[in-house]
Amino acid sequence: MKQASRRLALGLLGAMPVFARTAFAAATPAKIGMVGAGRMGTPIGTLLAKAGHEVMFSSRHPENLKALVDGAGSKARAGTVADAVAFGDVIILTLPYSALPDLAKEHGKALAAKRLVIDVGNPYPQRDGEPATIARDVGPGPYVTNLMPGIKLVRAFNAINWQKLPEFAARSEKVAAPICGDDKAVVALAEALIREIGFEPVMIGACKTMSKFAMPGSPLDAEHTVEDAKKIVASLPKA
Ligand SMILES: NC(=O)c1ccc[n+]([C@@H]2O[C@H](COP(=O)([O-])OP(=O)(O)OC[C@H]3O[C@@H](n4cnc5c(N)ncnc54)[C@H](OP(=O)(O)O)[C@@H]3O)[C@@H](O)[C@H]2O)c1
Repeated sequence: MKQASRRLALGLLGAMPVFARTAFAAATPAKIGMVGAGRMGTPIGTLLAKAGHEVMFSSRHPENLKALVDGAGSKARAGTVADAVAFGDVIILTLPYSALPDLAKEHGKALAAKRLVIDVGNPYPQRDGEPATIARDVGPGPYVTNLMPGIKLVRAFNAINWQKLPEFAARSEKVAAPICGDDKAVVALAEALIREIGFEPVMIGACKTMSKFAMPGSPLDAEHTVEDAKKIVASLPKA
């Protein structure tokens, strides 16, 4: 990620009212490995750290993450991708889909052992090549679970713009965070984390069948109230 974008993401979080950063203090802190610390990883990880979770941001160049870690507070640290995978009980992927095949080769088994893996990413063939073409074809959920069998996957925040995340998180009327997931307990954990950072999760359905709706361009794209998002979900064709 460009340093300028990361600085802007931190600036947007700094502008958040203090009440919004403290109102969702976590009852049971999780250890969260952020794989990717770019435009999406920066605000999501920072919100989680400020909610009381132990967060490790990661990059192929962790030495560039000092300002991010300083801005995210005492619960944040930085490491390599391998460090973050080893550190987290919960892993949040904020990567281009082009990075997923290698991630699966190197860390697929470790990721399958985690309590929850949230994929924030989206497949764009022009940007990501073949992995994204396949993921568009089979759906991003099945693509990721085929690549990393056994992972407890939830898709979330896929269609919320990075620049809007801090402001949405601070809203008193909750903004919907549409999600997909296949396992009830795993979804419940994701929902708890999402609530703690100021959003209200709205279940679309299983990643197996409905993940294409947790993407930009879907009727759930961008900003929706919880009520609107639920109405949209009810109108979606069920697979
Ligand atoms: N931007 C948005 O508003 C938005 C909204 C919703 C969803 N998304 C999706 O979320 C994902 C991340 O988007 P972003 O905007 O945060 O991207 P970004 O700012 O470019 O950050 C991408 C991150 O992925 C890491 N990365 C790239 N290639 C890698 C590889 N081969 N191996 C390991 N790490 C790699 C980069 O880490 P290094 O430091 O190692 O380079 C960087 O931290 C994308 O799939 C995007 O489509 C984006």
